[in-house]
Amino acid sequence: MAFGGLPLELKGKSMNKTIVANWKMNGSRAFIEDFLSFLTPSLITSPYQIILCPPFPYLFAVSKALKNTPAHLGAQNCHIAPEGAFTGETSAFMLSDLGCKAVIIGHSERRAFFNETDELIKAKVTAAHAAGLTAIVCIGESLNVRQAGRAIETVIQQLNASLPSSSTLQNTMVAYEPIWAIGTGLTPSLEEIEEMHQALLSDLPLLYGGSVTDKNIKEILALPHVNGVLVGGASLKTDIFKKMIS
Ligand code: PGA
Repeated sequence: MAFGGLPLELKGKSMNKTIVANWKMNGSRAFIEDFLSFLTPSLITSPYQIILCPPFPYLFAVSKALKNTPAHLGAQNCHIAPEGAFTGETSAFMLSDLGCKAVIIGHSERRAFFNETDELIKAKVTAAHAAGLTAIVCIGESLNVRQAGRAIETVIQQLNASLPSSSTLQNTMVAYEPIWAIGTGLTPSLEEIEEMHQALLSDLPLLYGGSVTDKNIKEILALPHVNGVLVGGASLKTDIFKKMIS
């Protein structure tokens, strides 16, 4: 697959739609071996740009398995510093060194369980850009906020506060992930997704995430302002994920 000579090989708005698999803290060596040998033929023929984001310890194994496929390797988090005394952390440069092309930043689980603020997320996105990675920046509202009719203004605010000035079409994707849709089986209506994506009016590629499955992926990807999807749970189900990328 050609990527038009863009530095990160990831294409911007003109790209094939993107499917990002976020495995979160799941998987094992045995799982990855089975999963990828089953998936490889579909990764090669898929019409989508695919980015697999395994947990840190499995990045190397996945990068080896992806070698002869057009799929990209991504990570789920990074530190803001390029190196240093930060026990237990991983820098964006290390991710790039390992072959990652992208990194998910500001996922709602990181915001909720690790107290990540927009300010920290912005610094991480800056670090990712400095390391030559595409940042997949996650934003999304809680159920309370949606019910109070403040979803759009909240998400726009989050986006503005999370994106540094280094963000470009080539190095940043934005994933709109309503918190109440993640891992719940609930999704906004297609109209609500389209309304949010239109309101974001971003030049950057916009993904949707939250309970995307083989049952709804087609109609979500068909929305004009949706450039791709971020898939959690369903990306770990071999048969289902194979169907989704085919
Ligand atoms: P889900 O997760 O597909 O399991 O809802 C999406 C995500 O957390 O990115």
